[in-house]
Amino acid sequence: MKKTILFALIIMMVMPLAGLFAEGQKDSDAVVIGANIYSFQDGFMNAVMKPTLESYAAERGAEIQIVDSEGQQAILNNQVDIFITKGVDVLAINLVDPASAQAIIDKAKKADIPLVLFNKEAPTEVRNSVMASYDKVWYVGTDSAESGIIQGQMMVADWKARPEYDKNGDGKVQYVMLKGEPGHPDAEARTRESVKAFTDAGIGVEQLALEADPNWSVQHGADKMAAWLTSSFAKDIELVICNNDNMAFGAITAMKAAGVRLPIYSVDALEQALTHISEGELDGTVLNDGVNQAKATIDLAINAAMGKDVVEGTSWKLTSDGSKAVRVAYVGVTPANYMDFQ
Ligand code: BGC
Ligand code: CA
Repeated sequence: MKKTILFALIIMMVMPLAGLFAEGQKDSDAVVIGANIYSFQDGFMNAVMKPTLESYAAERGAEIQIVDSEGQQAILNNQVDIFITKGVDVLAINLVDPASAQAIIDKAKKADIPLVLFNKEAPTEVRNSVMASYDKVWYVGTDSAESGIIQGQMMVADWKARPEYDKNGDGKVQYVMLKGEPGHPDAEARTRESVKAFTDAGIGVEQLALEADPNWSVQHGADKMAAWLTSSFAKDIELVICNNDNMAFGAITAMKAAGVRLPIYSVDALEQALTHISEGELDGTVLNDGVNQAKATIDLAINAAMGKDVVEGTSWKLTSDGSKAVRVAYVGVTPANYMDFQ
């Protein structure tokens, strides 16, 4: 009898302790991550990055605070000051203006707080100087150019396989481009590389129109496509290149409203893009793996806050070129393989 009571007592004492160490349990020692999203209006950031940052931080037992920088670098600068004053253990920052990377890195360096930048990479000059001079700053994202290269190869393959794409039969591609945010490394590299794939393959190109949008939005895609379809060159358009899915969703809506179906390609592979592919309304996209980018951001942030090697105990690898970056691979998504991504 006595033994049973003693046993029960021991169990009662040990249970809460076990709970404390259970995965996902928060305690006063939990790492606190101060994070932002450049704009909560951004479809991709809101649909993929933000929910994964939250759920994965919880799974790893860390506390994360995510604020909306509302598309304004000045707001982000202020938010970073507040995080530093509050004493967060680490910063996970999605730059609004990549050109302002140095200001953020300087703040973190001055406060001696580790910093993980994600989704928008600092310009090369900043990477080589400021990032190299602070040992507690890293980047998590992709190799921007890779998305444009994959999208370009997909379009070139289809162009060669489908002679009807060349409506006027001049051997050149008359295209329109929805670029996204000017100065964003992804937007710049995709714009360049997707077109380069054609010229590299010996196919001539002619740009009929290009529009940029800092918000990469559905509305922008719809408005621009609708305008192009009533323009003087409407009949000449042979290809619609979109640097992200959301702008393509808008363009698809505009084409449907006008009863037109032009070849159209994008990047991200959001759930809705897979549906458009399955319904024959989108010809291809490129998986921008936001889930793994968010997970890597959290893993690096926690390790950095604990003073460990940032990739210790994870499957992430820092690039070998010394750029202190984890780059998650892009994958081409076509009507032939989209089912694998659903
Ligand atoms: C995505 C876009 C997104 C942008 C936000 C890019 O990597 O492809 O959909 O709007 O990041 O910074
Ligand atoms: Ca042509």
